[in-house]
Amino acid sequence: MCGIVGYTGRRECRDILVNSLKKLEYRGYDSAGIAVIENGSIKTIKAKGKISEGLESKLAETGKLDAVTGIGHTRWATHGEPSDINSHPIGNSRITIVHNGIIENYRKLKSFLIDKGYNFESETDTETVAKLLDYYYTGNPIEAISKAVTDIEGAYALGIMFKDYPDMIYAVRKDSPLIVGSGNGEMFIASDMTALLEYTKEYYLLETGEIASIRADGVSFCDLHGNKLTKQIQTATWDVSEAEKGGFEHFMLKEIHEQPSAVKKTVSPRIKDGLPCFEECGLTDEMLRNYHHIYIIACGSAMHAGMIGKYIIESLARTPVIVDIASEFRYRNPLLKSDDLVVIVSQSGETADTKAALELANEVGADTLALVNVVGSSIAREAKMVMYTYAGPEISVASTKAYMVQSAFMYLLAFRVSLARGAISEDECRTLVKKLEEIPDLISDCISDLDPYRKAASRLIGADSLLYIGRGLDYALSMEGSLKLKEISYIHSESYAAGELKHGTISLIDDGMPVIAVATQRELLAKTISNMREVKTRGAYVIAVCPKGTAIDAESADEIIEIPAADDMLMPLVAVVPLQLIAYYASVLRGNDVDKPRNLAKSVTVE
Ligand code: M6R
Repeated sequence: MCGIVGYTGRRECRDILVNSLKKLEYRGYDSAGIAVIENGSIKTIKAKGKISEGLESKLAETGKLDAVTGIGHTRWATHGEPSDINSHPIGNSRITIVHNGIIENYRKLKSFLIDKGYNFESETDTETVAKLLDYYYTGNPIEAISKAVTDIEGAYALGIMFKDYPDMIYAVRKDSPLIVGSGNGEMFIASDMTALLEYTKEYYLLETGEIASIRADGVSFCDLHGNKLTKQIQTATWDVSEAEKGGFEHFMLKEIHEQPSAVKKTVSPRIKDGLPCFEECGLTDEMLRNYHHIYIIACGSAMHAGMIGKYIIESLARTPVIVDIASEFRYRNPLLKSDDLVVIVSQSGETADTKAALELANEVGADTLALVNVVGSSIAREAKMVMYTYAGPEISVASTKAYMVQSAFMYLLAFRVSLARGAISEDECRTLVKKLEEIPDLISDCISDLDPYRKAASRLIGADSLLYIGRGLDYALSMEGSLKLKEISYIHSESYAAGELKHGTISLIDDGMPVIAVATQRELLAKTISNMREVKTRGAYVIAVCPKGTAIDAESADEIIEIPAADDMLMPLVAVVPLQLIAYYASVLRGNDVDKPRNLAKSVTVE
């Protein structure tokens, strides 16, 4: 899950490559590098660390580069520690490459190449590809690429430069994303469109088994046998400003603020005559009536959105919903049948485990519906049906607006399944839809004053560990709150079903341990309050998150964060906002890199 870019055109390419790479840093930031062709020679500059730390200092020492063709890479280390030597581009004086993915048979290829007299410098799997290309190269790039990728097992998106073809970039991919951007007298490659929005909105999606030969005035495509291919150019709908901070200190804060409009954009086009409508993907009421089970499969925050889906679909439509972590689902021989619906949820549409789960569901013959944010991503293309969330580009590694719109979509699905199955009437459905449409204003209310969240966060930053507790939908939401905090503040936390504490976990509570209690479900309030008291009497510092006017006294909570009230069922869409902001400020106050937390990358394209 690295980011790759490439440029060939008339402009000096160094700054274009670095600028585009910065847009992809969310994919990995262990090291970064570029290679350009200057005066007929390949010149490589690369360094450990984020672009602003390593690569830019080296480039400052290097000075101007007289080059109009180059490739670049930002790395999330898998094979070989983050270091200068393991950074990309990797190659020799005649061929150099950037790679996103994992070469599974690299050990075998490496010993083959060592037998042929090659020496290896790095610990990366990528170096075997660079050397393999060199081994096969006899003057024809397409032939060398075809032969090399035929030997490779695993996932790859490769940007390749040959010294002999100084105006060209070559690209090939399997299972890792890659697009070819088309500008005016200049062409690009990138892992995704966010890298290129500043330069062009026109692009081609490279498919597995296709090779792109790119020069300043255009691109030609062929298959691995050299047969010419014709491809359709696409136009991105995202705007360049959406991939910039726009005055906010961090992308995460900006993305939290974009949630009201993201919900509107995702929900509104799916409402027809006051009712949810899935015509765009061909999901009919008859189909919804006949599914035996609904599976929701995803990873991380997307899976947590699925948990909200499970609670509301089951309680409203009385239809069984199984939520599965994609990496578990695919290896546990699930009881999936061809009359089930599998909803695959993914912001990036590239998450390796989620994609593999989709492939499994397709193999079984189940109907698959992808709920994806990135248009044209692998998951969107491989599912039988696709519906897009309209969150716009999400840059911060911690998901906020993508989780929000995935959860909002779960309500649309729950309402339509309930209607199709006769669990609610059309009038009831219209009322629910209306309430859902009011949510964006309540989210805006929530973010009109950020002080309570900053204050709550300041209470947490000294803690070694804390708990999030809740019941029902509040428990589903606690999972997301806890993940967000861990991910960016590095404070350990667990989410617990409040009623389960007494079965072991309550022994963790000692003096001053923070407990965040989510208490938005009126039916469960008395019980949640009892659980808050139980931890408070044992020394916990309880911060309650609840709708305005909820009767919670000083015996139950030390601090209360009041949020606007909505229908209980819809409260997760409002209550997640304080949890996101508490995590955000905890990270800021601890001096962390909010948008690029350690050890992580946004797009997890490895298992
Ligand atoms: O792109 P995806 O939605 O498939 O990503 C799934 C998870 O990797 C993602 O939600 C992750 O958990 C976030 N970093 C959490 O904030």
